[in-house]
Amino acid sequence: MEITSENPAMEEMIRAPDGLYGVAVTDTRISKSSADGTLTYRGYPIGELFEKASFEECAFLILEGRLPSRAELGRFIEELHARAAVPEKVYDIVRSLPTDAHPMDVLRTAVSGLGASEMSLSPRDQQYSIIAKMPTLVANCYRLVRGMPAIEPDPGLDQASNLLYMLSGTRPGKFDSWAFERELILYLEHDLNASTFTVRVVASTLADIYASSTAGLAALKGPLHGGANEAAMQMLLEVGTAERAQKYVQDALSQGKKIMGFGHRVYKKVDPRSQLSKALLRRLLEEDGEGDDLYRLCEAVEAAMWEAKKIPTNLDFYAAPIFYTLSIPIPVFTPIFAASRIVGWAAHYNEQLARNKLFRPDSVYVGPKELAYVPIEKR
Ligand code: ACO
Repeated sequence: MEITSENPAMEEMIRAPDGLYGVAVTDTRISKSSADGTLTYRGYPIGELFEKASFEECAFLILEGRLPSRAELGRFIEELHARAAVPEKVYDIVRSLPTDAHPMDVLRTAVSGLGASEMSLSPRDQQYSIIAKMPTLVANCYRLVRGMPAIEPDPGLDQASNLLYMLSGTRPGKFDSWAFERELILYLEHDLNASTFTVRVVASTLADIYASSTAGLAALKGPLHGGANEAAMQMLLEVGTAERAQKYVQDALSQGKKIMGFGHRVYKKVDPRSQLSKALLRRLLEEDGEGDDLYRLCEAVEAAMWEAKKIPTNLDFYAAPIFYTLSIPIPVFTPIFAASRIVGWAAHYNEQLARNKLFRPDSVYVGPKELAYVPIEKR
């Protein structure tokens, strides 16, 4: 095929499937999810990291591409603590928002505001700043719009404990912290999901990390993506008991509704993160002496959905009841996802810029052609 100098790419245009289904648009060394139900971060299986590593170790791994030495981990943690406090100017923006604003909207606005106040930092410092501040922002965006005072991060606590502490004002117990940290590890990174792709598209224009993350937050809010953990919990509360699960699922499906926390573009049989979360929910409920009603309810919805559609749970389905059991307010579920995923976004931002090519796909025009302009008085 002859390629014209006027528009060389046009001559070779490929019509990609809707939703870019099955299309790879870049190479990555950061993580890999596979249809066989496996997930690796930088080559390490997720199950092993979930069992053995801390959130900070995994964050370092994702950002730097290797596990840290003890000294490197110590410096990394110190740097996160040193940068965790949020400027008062950003809190002023947050306080000006409506009291019933969704925490994801507040967080997105706050990250934008943070960007406007940190333009003088180097790109590397900007990234560490936003990663360090995200848990503080998640907790205090929720608190401030509701008229509660902000809580400063405690330098004696790790990222997971600190986030729980800043949300509730109470230092969490050891097991609750550990369980929450496991979920944060699962949320850290997941190759080219919708929000990460969004971050890479914005990064490809050479915009900064704040612009890219603000766009990532916007993509994450939707219920087909990050918003699903919040929607899944609302649904579980609506179903109420295990005995009502089958009818609820059948009715919803017959009305053409989606069941939140189910289905995935990559994992069609099993999401490994969901399996790990399911076992964790059981342990957490036992540890907290909560009984097994919530676990039975989740299992019943899972079984009903498998029977009806052979669609498995995704991470959000079992993460939601874990957050709920930890007494986290439901509207903060998706911001918590962001507090962890910011690490993956930063790694992808860097990877994009290391071998950048502007994302600028094309579309097949199917609208009307060659219309004649009609003056307004004749329409
Ligand atoms: N409830 C009901 N039906 C579903 C669901 C669901 N949760 N998920 C998929 N399906 C159906 C689709 O309607 C479609 O049916 P059809 O062939 O009759 O039209 C079929 O299964 C195939 O699904 P697709 O939508 O093609 O799968 P896709 O890969 O495009 O979508 C998605 C994946 C968007 C996650 C989808 O499963 C969904 O909407 N799930 C609910 C929202 C959700 O839980 N999102 C969280 C994703 S994971 C994360 O962000 C951490």
